[in-house]
Amino acid sequence: MRPGKPEDLGQIVELFRHEVEVGRQDSAPSESRTRARLARFDWSGKSRVMELDGHLEAAVLVVARPSPDGVLADVYAAGHGDAYGNAVEWGVLFAQASGAKIVHTTMAAGHGDGLERFGLRRARPWWRMDRSLGDALPEVAPVPGYELADATRTAPGVWAEMFNRSFADHWRFAPRTEPEIVGGKPPELCLMAVTTTTRAPAAITLGETEEFADDRRPQPVGIVSSVGTVPEHRRRGLAGWLVAEEMRRLRDAGARHASLYVDGLNPTRAYKIYNELGFEVVYEAEVWEASFR
Ligand SMILES: CC(C)(COP(=O)(O)OP(=O)(O)OC[C@H]1O[C@@H](n2cnc3c(N)ncnc32)[C@H](O)[C@@H]1OP(=O)(O)O)[C@@H](O)C(=O)NCCC(=O)NCCS
Repeated sequence: MRPGKPEDLGQIVELFRHEVEVGRQDSAPSESRTRARLARFDWSGKSRVMELDGHLEAAVLVVARPSPDGVLADVYAAGHGDAYGNAVEWGVLFAQASGAKIVHTTMAAGHGDGLERFGLRRARPWWRMDRSLGDALPEVAPVPGYELADATRTAPGVWAEMFNRSFADHWRFAPRTEPEIVGGKPPELCLMAVTTTTRAPAAITLGETEEFADDRRPQPVGIVSSVGTVPEHRRRGLAGWLVAEEMRRLRDAGARHASLYVDGLNPTRAYKIYNELGFEVVYEAEVWEASFR
């Protein structure tokens, strides 16, 4: 086992495709997208790869961020045979040794057998919901008293603040920075509802198009993310409006299909809004969690 390097990325992406083949994950991002996301990743400190005869057998990457519950670390592991378990184990032990209080790894429901031996427990259902963008799209219903804005016209800094305020009561919330929220996303797909009178930000929804290899969905796929309304503006139709508008913009940007991910126990029942907009659950995963006090 050795630290990973940016030059390993091609093989690491192959390993993540293998995770899709064996059914542990639903999709694997392209190499270019993965490279962009990991541009500032601390390879030597936070990754390990296992090599056999010059080929990678497994890889694990750990991404940690502070949260109100303590440092929360996500373990992304991929590998063949027993090397997979070794990769998860390294990720959990490394995260714990680095001070993480909570460690997560996510995988398809029913594929987590054996994870208990690393101290992980099933913690939360995690769903992917899809709909075609080829059919008639739902009506866009603007909410009186609010206007639509996008990142072509808003001041920087406001996206992270909106995300962090909207998601503060979300399960295992960890604050994000502006580059994590809107970095690399087309500005016309970063939507915000603001009040007409004072232009106070009230709700956000983000989108981007992405190509997935060996994937059943018509490509490219429009990914909808960060659907959030600050508490004082909820239950007025803002999220429904922004997601409907986002679908149109994604289709205009070339997307043929839309996907989003949602906490299956979301107390604000976000999945119900998506369902009313034509999204259906197509893939069920589970978040596995280890906590260290
Ligand atoms: C989930 C969330 C984005 C919904 O935002 P919202 O702007 O309140 O959403 P909407 O107003 O479009 O819909 C919410 C509910 O209000 C209802 N509603 C819409 N307009 C309404 C109105 N004028 N009067 C009363 N109710 C209304 C909707 O029918 C919906 O009801 P339901 O829960 O029975 O389905 C928001 O609660 C939130 O930010 N939650 C925390 C972050 C989160 O979990 N995001 C989802 C991540 S996948």
